[in-house]
Amino acid sequence: TASASLAGRRVVITAGPTREPIDPVRYISNHSSGKMGYALAAAARAAGAEVVLVSGPVAVAAPAGVEVRGIMTAQDMLEEAGRAVDEGCDLFIATAAVADYRPDTFAGDKIKKSNESMNLSLVRNPDTLATIAGRSDAPFTVGFAAETRDVEHYALDKLARKKLNMIVANDVSAPGLGFNSDNNAVTVFWPQGREAIGPGPKAVLAQRLIALIADQLTDKAGP
Ligand code: PMT
Repeated sequence: TASASLAGRRVVITAGPTREPIDPVRYISNHSSGKMGYALAAAARAAGAEVVLVSGPVAVAAPAGVEVRGIMTAQDMLEEAGRAVDEGCDLFIATAAVADYRPDTFAGDKIKKSNESMNLSLVRNPDTLATIAGRSDAPFTVGFAAETRDVEHYALDKLARKKLNMIVANDVSAPGLGFNSDNNAVTVFWPQGREAIGPGPKAVLAQRLIALIADQLTDKAGP
């Protein structure tokens, strides 16, 4: 439908994992493959948007017509996403699985094996989604919430706390869905409604998600 178009919109999407270096050969990361974020980028492009994908290290190919800007750490992601939003952004979607903590120091040399146990001290990472949503010129902002229990409760909490326009709750406890799989099932929440999508291929979910987002965007700021 015409209301589901993103023609002329500038969209920034984060995708994939971050890597937080411990020493020159080791890092902390997670199982995000980037598939969900890349599927959303392709769907937004197909809906007519100009799309910048701020992506952690993944093995997925860039969708045609989408600009990919690679990052490594959560701090890189904050900088690169901020820069992309500065360049003009109507819609920001945070699909990335960002490390909440990073090692508080980087060991310049490879850490040697010595004692039977060792401790790694971690510090909080900046939150890209909350930072973008908190800007005075914030775009329409959509977050994801990957949870293993009380999915709805935590999703609604994030919607309010991070000042989001929509949140996509992803139950990542179900086998074969979520992280690193080709399929997913989500429930989308926004202040006036909700919709469950899937289970199904991430490409199909992404198309429905983009249509829902485009409807809300049109209601809010639409031409
Ligand atoms: O990449 P795939 O293998 O396809 O898997 C897709 C997915 C499961 C990673 C994806 O669907 C998903 O759920 N992404 C969010 C993962 C997550 O880490 O959620 P969270 O609840 O920790 O974070 C909440 C939101 O804040 C997310 O939009 C996240 O991108 C954002 N965030 C979190 C921390 C941080 N430092 N910066 C952020 O921007």
